[in-house]
Amino acid sequence: MVEVISFFGLGYVGLTTAACFASRGFRVIGFDNDYNKFKAISSGVAPFFEPGLDEILKISLEKGNLKVTMDPNTAVLNSKVTFITVATPSKEDGSIDLSYIKEASKMIGNSLKLKDEWHLVAVKSTVVPTTSEAVVKKIVEETSGKKCGRDFGLCVNPEFLREGNAVEDTLNPDRIIIGEFDEKSGDFLERIYREFYGQKIPPIIRTTPVNAELIKYANNAFLATKVSFINMIANLCQKLPGADVEVVARGIGLDKRIGPLFLKAGAGWGGSCWSKDLKALLSFGLKIGVELPLIEATLKINDSQPYKVVELAKMALGSLRGKRVSILGLAFKPNTDDMRNAVSIKIVEKLLSEGAKVTVYDPKAIENAKSIFFERVEYAKNIEDCLRNSECAVIVTEWDEFKKLKPEYFVKLMRDPVIVDARRIFCPMEFQDKVKFVAIGLSNNFERIQKT
Ligand code: UGA
Repeated sequence: MVEVISFFGLGYVGLTTAACFASRGFRVIGFDNDYNKFKAISSGVAPFFEPGLDEILKISLEKGNLKVTMDPNTAVLNSKVTFITVATPSKEDGSIDLSYIKEASKMIGNSLKLKDEWHLVAVKSTVVPTTSEAVVKKIVEETSGKKCGRDFGLCVNPEFLREGNAVEDTLNPDRIIIGEFDEKSGDFLERIYREFYGQKIPPIIRTTPVNAELIKYANNAFLATKVSFINMIANLCQKLPGADVEVVARGIGLDKRIGPLFLKAGAGWGGSCWSKDLKALLSFGLKIGVELPLIEATLKINDSQPYKVVELAKMALGSLRGKRVSILGLAFKPNTDDMRNAVSIKIVEKLLSEGAKVTVYDPKAIENAKSIFFERVEYAKNIEDCLRNSECAVIVTEWDEFKKLKPEYFVKLMRDPVIVDARRIFCPMEFQDKVKFVAIGLSNNFERIQKT
């Protein structure tokens, strides 16, 4: 039997998961106390850009499978399970800010007080180990007057979806992690996923809550470390005649123990998760007396990586003062309008501080960028406007529409063009002949790279 499911917090994770469940026939109630979000979602528009999401959102609303509410009681009292999907941002000192988790736990507890039947609470938000026990369980018990394991169930159920791929990742995950406080809770959640995925059920790991909490952090930390690792090797390549990190990554990626994914060197990693999660893990480690030097190194490499891009531009242009520089791509990755922690911010700020005149273009993130750069940069409507009369083009986000550009196009629009390929989307052999071409992880002595 398909149960009614509720979600507390309709951000990337909550809204995408809610819409995916609803699109497969589950009845879903989404709660959020942000009126603007509530309005947008109720009218079938996601408050952020995510490929495919608007479509399934509209269908789910039309079919009546998805309801949106600003009343927590409506969500809890009319559902059998509540997923907590609120944000867990960083505090000033890097430690995790649990205020939304606490607020959600309190609201759920207050609603559960009014409910006679058993209810499952599943923590999907990313929380440092022991939070579900020490914060969620404690607050829900206190506010509801009920007992976890008897009157209500509790699971930790982290998600691994990527922005820009959120729908696809939700429909085809690599695995499901269930950290259960008791067997009944784990059984119940597993049954919901079995109904949702049917034959295509991925491996399920049932474990302790603390393992489930840690798996999420270890996962993000490992991926971030992999990218920082290849960026470190990229920096080495730039100083070595004949070296190219793309070839090195391909060479090591074919080792099955390493694998080819998340080995793309670039301008550094951004986004709302990795930085806050790694800092939260570091801070949590310190709290329990464990140093995490690999995490520190991963963050350190990433902090300086965007500046390597500016150094490349400087190397090719000489002084940046008064130079016209075009930025292609602002979002922290393609297929999103998200500018949170985007490396473009550091790159643009540095270029401006060096006296460059900066024009920016992004297919989706321009509106978000305006509230970061204000009048300090020019905003182009398309690639052509961005490049016209410029002296240097920097590829900061690897949108598909940039990958198609040919060197002749840059020559036609720009003045003696310098191309800085910070995402390695162009073939050096093709570009080096026609423009001044520099790239992250490419030997920067302008020697021709041997074809491999
Ligand atoms: C990441 C994880 O991949 C998800 O599994 C996780 O659920 C999510 O964080 C989260 O905790 O919410 P996301 O931040 O959306 O997802 O994006 P990724 O595709 O992981 O990319 C992160 C950053 O790394 C981007 O800036 C991307 O450009 C960069 N990156 C990624 C590289 O520079 N090179 C690579 O090879 C891969």
